[in-house]
Amino acid sequence: MLRLLRGPWIAQSIHMAAKLRLADLVKNKPMPISELAQATGTHATSLYRLLRLLANFGIFTEVSAGHFGLTPLAATLRTDVPGSLNALATIYGEEMFWQPWGQIEYSIKTGETAFSRVFDKSLYAYLAERPETALLFDQAMSGLVSKIADAVAATYDFSSLRRIIDVGGGNGTLISAILHTYPEPLATLVDLEPVVKHAKKQLAEVGLTNRCACVAGDFFRAVPAGGDAYILSTVICNWDEERAITILKNCHRAMTKGSKLLLVEIVLPPGDTPSPGKMLDLQMMVITGGRDRTEAEYRTLLEAAGFTLTQVSPTHSERSVIEATPA
Ligand SMILES: C[S@@+](CC[C@H](N)C(=O)[O-])C[C@H]1O[C@@H](n2cnc3c(N)ncnc32)[C@H](O)[C@@H]1O
Repeated sequence: MLRLLRGPWIAQSIHMAAKLRLADLVKNKPMPISELAQATGTHATSLYRLLRLLANFGIFTEVSAGHFGLTPLAATLRTDVPGSLNALATIYGEEMFWQPWGQIEYSIKTGETAFSRVFDKSLYAYLAERPETALLFDQAMSGLVSKIADAVAATYDFSSLRRIIDVGGGNGTLISAILHTYPEPLATLVDLEPVVKHAKKQLAEVGLTNRCACVAGDFFRAVPAGGDAYILSTVICNWDEERAITILKNCHRAMTKGSKLLLVEIVLPPGDTPSPGKMLDLQMMVITGGRDRTEAEYRTLLEAAGFTLTQVSPTHSERSVIEATPA
């Protein structure tokens, strides 16, 4: 219990290491604390105490007195590795997350989103006003989704599809993995204006400009027509029932009879069965006002928007592919 209670201290310490890019600094060889302090503009003794705590949990290692090197856990904080968790570790420790978590009592008592109470706006309105934080948020999502993307591409058969619409597709990590695995389909990624800019850049870097169009749009208004599959990856969990149904109905309107809807989400297991989704569900409660759901809850939600759930495919990641068709 004590270790759990002190968990936020560990998370804030990891946040600090990520923000200072310590893993990048020691990626080739261990460095003495004096040099690390100089490179990061920090107080050497305090930095030593931070790294000593992190090494206590296998994040960095003190190879000799006052010299710290990389470990596999610390390597996840490098910025130059696929699936880097640096941006996520950085953003989790910023006030946009810890201030609402400090107000969890408000969410528990009222059922309302603590984020909106603290900042007087929704998460995405907040990000729209802060381009640097928004970029960090996209990088954090991209780090999270990169392993999931390979698992989704390996599990679900996209080979017979001609045009995939990735709705709220972020900076394109998932659609890139799908298009690299399946050479036939073309795609359209839809997201908010600033996010689409990053997506265009990332898709160009991986040579997919010709196969994936990027369009700015608001999924509460409309979704592009013409797809035979519509992906919503970690989108529906961001929203309450009413908003989720609006997004789903907009997809429904854009679809034809044979089109498929694919939700890439964590499906909560029943009872006490452990699931990372039970943590993310609380994050949704506090930050976005959304929720993670059980299979039965997804079935009901989909039916309310005019869909029939046809298949749930677990992947080798925490997320499943929930397939539905217009009823
Ligand atoms: C949690 S992220 C998921 C991103 C990506 N699909 C993934 O799996 O990593 C949710 C995405 O929804 C986008 N989004 C939020 N509100 C939107 C809106 N009204 N219209 C279109 N996209 C929106 C965000 O910009 C963000 O990229």
